[in-house]
Amino acid sequence: MEIALRLREPADDELHFAMQADPLQVATTVPARSRADFDAWIARIAADPSVTLRTITADGEMVGTINTFLIGEERFIGYRVATRHWRKGIGGEAVRLMVQLDVSRPIFATVLASNVASVRALSRNGFVPVREQMSDDGPEVVLRLG
Ligand SMILES: CC(C)(COP(=O)(O)OP(=O)(O)OC[C@H]1O[C@@H](n2cnc3c(N)ncnc32)[C@H](O)[C@@H]1OP(=O)(O)O)[C@@H](O)C(=O)NCCC(=O)NCCS
Repeated sequence: MEIALRLREPADDELHFAMQADPLQVATTVPARSRADFDAWIARIAADPSVTLRTITADGEMVGTINTFLIGEERFIGYRVATRHWRKGIGGEAVRLMVQLDVSRPIFATVLASNVASVRALSRNGFVPVREQMSDDGPEVVLRLG
């Protein structure tokens, strides 16, 4: 299976919206956006030159989405893989490809401490835990690359 990143196309938004509304994904990340909120959010980040937004493909088929973005002066990474494709090595490979594409450092990630797969996908790519914090959804770990 060949994992790659390509530019996001508007047609990708349907799967992206469905992924973020999937209860299994909500359980490890943030609450789902309404359709109107999602459409406004994706239009905003797609037009923001400080955001690097990519679609993850496996053998040419969209299987997820990944981006880096600024919060204040700090750059963060975020990503999703469609639930039916979990545990095939896609998330870890997508993080590896994104930190090759976006060479800015440091890059941070904020992950629920219970999100073992995400912590693992980051750690295998050199991210190290730098602090823990409490969120409304439970304890989070902040990891840093570079
Ligand atoms: C996090 C996520 C992207 C991982 O994607 P994935 O394609 O399943 O990841 P991988 O198959 O590359 O697995 C990454 C590592 O986690 C491990 N892993 C995956 N699922 C796991 C689970 N349920 N329990 C324990 N380990 C798990 C894998 O074995 C792998 O470990 P390795 O690097 O030692 O081989 C995916 O679970 C997802 O989309 N989750 C919802 C959104 C999300 O949490 N995004 C991140 C927010 S910070």
